Amino acid sequence: MYENDEPAPVRLDLLVVGSANADLVIGVERRPGPGETVLGSDLVVHPGGKGANQAVAAARLGARTALLARVGDDAHGRLLLESQQQAGVDTGGVLVGGAPTGVALITVDPSGDNSIVVSPGANARLTPEDIKAADPLFRAARVVSVQLEIPLETVAETARSLAPGSRLVLNPSPPAPLPEDVLSACDPLVVNEHEARYILGDTAGPAPEDWARTLLTHGPRSVVVTLGAAGALVADSRTADCVRVPSPEVDAVDTTGAGDAFTAALAWRLGLGDELAAAAAFAVRVGAAAVTGQGAQASFPTAAQVAEV
Ligand code: RIB
Repeated sequence: MYENDEPAPVRLDLLVVGSANADLVIGVERRPGPGETVLGSDLVVHPGGKGANQAVAAARLGARTALLARVGDDAHGRLLLESQQQAGVDTGGVLVGGAPTGVALITVDPSGDNSIVVSPGANARLTPEDIKAADPLFRAARVVSVQLEIPLETVAETARSLAPGSRLVLNPSPPAPLPEDVLSACDPLVVNEHEARYILGDTAGPAPEDWARTLLTHGPRSVVVTLGAAGALVADSRTADCVRVPSPEVDAVDTTGAGDAFTAALAWRLGLGDELAAAAAFAVRVGAAAVTGQGAQASFPTAAQVAEV
């Protein structure tokens, strides 16, 4: 079903399938250890969730974007829908109800680093049937991007639902064991160090180049390793190339959502026909811009702002 009885878009640069969370954010001097209590800043509530973040990031850059997700029939759900609509995301595929909206408890330290605990809520009720019912969105999309804050069987159905000629971008976050058919549909698989080490286990070599090359043997057609302030590394099974893409230097305020902005920008530019290294070179600038502002979606740049980074 495409919600709201509206016609589905005819052409989409990017369909994002994934989570939508209310981010409950507290700034801390340092994170508490087990059994310890620390005082933090006033609580701020931002729209977030890896799927919703990617959709806003892509739309803000100018991509025709739709989100397929599930939120609760509650104030957090309304906050999320409003943020999507303000960014210009097509929300006809956002399902409402079934459980409270997902929530992420986030602490941000003075260096801008975050740690996150997610209560999936409605995200856990996004089912394979919901994916099948959204077929018009899949037929319209050049690129489909998915993450792992929704059930794994829903991710697997997403990989099976790609229209001929469209491309799957997967960020396996938070990491979980992935079926072979999902891994081999990825073009690219986008991982940070933590996710790469999770997938590779003992087979992870010492350098990001080793991780990328070994990840390619697990089936993805291409791999992108994000390296934080050091940029990214791309590897493509078709060319056997492994290329480092440096990031511009910026003062980080809050890294929350920067990886989502990177992945959205990458997915959009791949859909426009960029080579992997060129798409990553644009995406690292988007990620760099995103760490200079507070919160996830609020910090995502427009194309004009990316040009200034
Ligand atoms: O990647 C950042 C996101 O992770 C946050 O917005 C939070 O909701 C969690 O999903």
